[in-house]
Amino acid sequence: MKVVIFGAGLIGKKRGLQLAPHELVGIFDPDQARAKALAAELKTKAFDNEAAALGAPSDVAIVAVTNNALTPVSVKALEAGRHVLVEKPAALSLAELSLLEAASRRTGRAVKVGFNHRFHPSLLKARELVDSGRMGPLMFLRARYGHGGRLGMEKEWRFDPKLGGGGELIDQGVHLLDLIHWFFGPLPLQSSLVRTNFWPAEVDDNAVLTCAAEEGEQWATFHVSCSEWKNTFSLELYGRTGKILVTGLGGSYGKETLTYYQMQPEMGPPPFETFEFEGADRSWELDLKNLVDHVEKKTPLLGDLASARYCLEQVTAAYRANGYLNLPCNA
Ligand SMILES: NC(=O)c1ccc[n+]([C@@H]2O[C@H](COP(=O)([O-])OP(=O)(O)OC[C@H]3O[C@@H](n4cnc5c(N)ncnc54)[C@H](O)[C@@H]3O)[C@@H](O)[C@H]2O)c1
Repeated sequence: MKVVIFGAGLIGKKRGLQLAPHELVGIFDPDQARAKALAAELKTKAFDNEAAALGAPSDVAIVAVTNNALTPVSVKALEAGRHVLVEKPAALSLAELSLLEAASRRTGRAVKVGFNHRFHPSLLKARELVDSGRMGPLMFLRARYGHGGRLGMEKEWRFDPKLGGGGELIDQGVHLLDLIHWFFGPLPLQSSLVRTNFWPAEVDDNAVLTCAAEEGEQWATFHVSCSEWKNTFSLELYGRTGKILVTGLGGSYGKETLTYYQMQPEMGPPPFETFEFEGADRSWELDLKNLVDHVEKKTPLLGDLASARYCLEQVTAAYRANGYLNLPCNA
């Protein structure tokens, strides 16, 4: 397929580096210096205006722009006939997400949301173990995800409510909400604590959410933080007869590892197996492959607009319950 990338930042580059076997026809970013530098690195062209990028013959648009521009750029790309891989959270609010859903329906083009964590090998393995039935019915999930920020982060777009839409919850939190949606379906928000502990910002830097089934016993709880100091990813998933522990995501999050504990009929300390995943993070490549397979073979999208809607519903409810009323999602 022919692919065009909007946004020459960190994620535009990560996605551009994992595009093979597809062809990158060019990159657009209003920051032309960035666009040109990335285009040179990826041996493609930099468009000098948005219309040229939208008009260039292509099948897929990757939209890796600041959060405020995710929906507007994606809607234009859909109208131009492209399938879209839009970064999370896909929109700043549920009202904006509705525009994206409507554009996808109107144009008949697919939208994949960049919930690439589903394609980390540990989480694919977790899904395989759950689907194998070895763990029995799922009961609950407990997760932690966080990073330590960087000097001056409070001045970046992520901490500007109009550009980012919120803080840590809408940033890293939506990945955990998407994983909850994947393993349990749409568990609604049960309780939330959202705080601005460390960074001098209008938005949150820490959030603790619990989601729970209205009927039945399944629940999920997590803490996301950008005052975590040591980058951390930990996810535990409990079935009636087994437990999964995932730690690390590679790189600064540490070696990606999954340990599976199999409960015995007599209970007691369970035997366990550990899987270690090394090598490059291929989740960006597999995320795009999922969209291409969906377009070509009608296979299901993993991380779609329904999951983005679930995530934004919980984020909006948590911000509202904690008095973060200045955010676009609560407008
Ligand atoms: N999937 C993940 O794990 C993951 C991780 C980090 C960020 N993200 C998401 O990726 C997106 C980009 O984040 P980033 O870290 O690359 O940010 P970044 O600041 O590094 O890059 C964003 C780029 O978008 C450009 N931009 C803004 N408006 C634009 C427009 N209308 N058209 C084209 N380009 C435009 C900016 O000039 C900037 O160069 C965000 O939505 C973020 O939430 C996803």
